[in-house]
Amino acid sequence: MALPAGVVAGMFDNWTRLLGNSDLAPHGYCLLWDPALVWTHVVSDALTGLSYYSIPIAMAVFLRRRPELQFRWIAWLFVVFILACGTTHFLAIWTLWVPDYWLEGIVKALTAVVSVATAVVLWPLIPRALAMPTPAAVRRANDALTAGIAERDAALVALETAQAEREAAEAMLRQSQKMEALGQLTGGIAHDFNNLLTIIQANIARARRLSESDPRLGGALDNAMTGAERAARLTDQLLAFARRQPLRPELQDLGDIVTRITELSARSFISRVVIKSDLAADLWPVRIDAGQAENAVLNLVVNAREAMPEGGTLRLVTRNCPGTPDMVELRVIDSGIGMEDVVRERALEPFFTTKALGRGTGLGLPQVYGFVTQSGGRIAIESAPGQGTTVRLFLPRATGEPGE
Ligand SMILES: Nc1ncnc2c1ncn2[C@@H]1O[C@H](COP(=O)(O)OP(=O)(O)OP(=O)(O)O)[C@@H](O)[C@H]1O
Ligand SMILES: [Mg+2]
Repeated sequence: MALPAGVVAGMFDNWTRLLGNSDLAPHGYCLLWDPALVWTHVVSDALTGLSYYSIPIAMAVFLRRRPELQFRWIAWLFVVFILACGTTHFLAIWTLWVPDYWLEGIVKALTAVVSVATAVVLWPLIPRALAMPTPAAVRRANDALTAGIAERDAALVALETAQAEREAAEAMLRQSQKMEALGQLTGGIAHDFNNLLTIIQANIARARRLSESDPRLGGALDNAMTGAERAARLTDQLLAFARRQPLRPELQDLGDIVTRITELSARSFISRVVIKSDLAADLWPVRIDAGQAENAVLNLVVNAREAMPEGGTLRLVTRNCPGTPDMVELRVIDSGIGMEDVVRERALEPFFTTKALGRGTGLGLPQVYGFVTQSGGRIAIESAPGQGTTVRLFLPRATGEPGE
């Protein structure tokens, strides 16, 4: 329904009269239009108004970027309140020339409403704001939390280390139990087989003497004897693994033994293997069977050479390992093909070989193992595919001079 034009004009008139108050004097009139006074007011109000507009804008930007802040709504109330205050200052400039006192009054009233509301709600907030942790308290809590996390991480690392150590110890125990069982079985068979071989060899020798007149029989008996001697060597190797070989331990300098074998190997190796030895000058003496020790080092050197078909470096290192008991260590290090875990775990087992039929018996490392353990020492193998192999022999330190 449209209002009559007269009514609308009347309403507009009332409104402009209400806001405009054209019959009132502008505020500059009260200042007697003194330019200095007028401009002091204008500049002051303008600067204050501009600042009052700038502050809430900065606050609004900050509030929008920090949505997690507590008591955001009171901050927004401050924004409105300061904007309203700014507006009153601009209107104060306006009314110097235009007597819009109603407009100024309405804006002041609105400012009053917002100010009162802000003031009223601010007081109950004070205890809650005071209860908020101070930056120092937050820092302390943070420090405590960081320390707690570091402690937990350290405990985790310790737990993982302990677990790894336990697993390694269990693996070592399993390995030594397996070697023990294998040794007992092998040793038992080899011992009895050796006794039978002794009877066989004695009887072949006797038959050989009796058959001197028949050359055909002699040839057959020679073959039988060669076979029996091979079988005897095999049983010796098995007895060595089972730690049941007869040893003649004497005080020895392991360095001398290593030197003898490296010289021998350097002469016989035609491959592109470079042999380097790093022997401790003050190496403690050991009480071992020299022949068996040479055999063991040779076995390791041959294995290393075979692991480096394209050539490489073989290092023999000796050093003293103080402890309870004191040990002398020999490391045979090659830069060869290395071993998979499954090979490394089984390398000490008799007859375990990865070499082609007829090229390896799988009795080299078992003999080394048997010799070292029978001499009171131990053997450790570190190897990974493509990373080379380090075989470490530990022999107990003996007292006395070498060669005694
Ligand atoms: N230095 C090495 N690098 C890589 N693999 C090795 C090394 N030494 C030993 N092995 C592995 O361990 C297996 C067992 O070695 P071991 O010396 O007992 O027997 P073999 O060398 O195979 O035969 P044999 O020594 O009786 O001629 C080898 O077949 C090989 O797979
Ligand atoms: Mg070998």
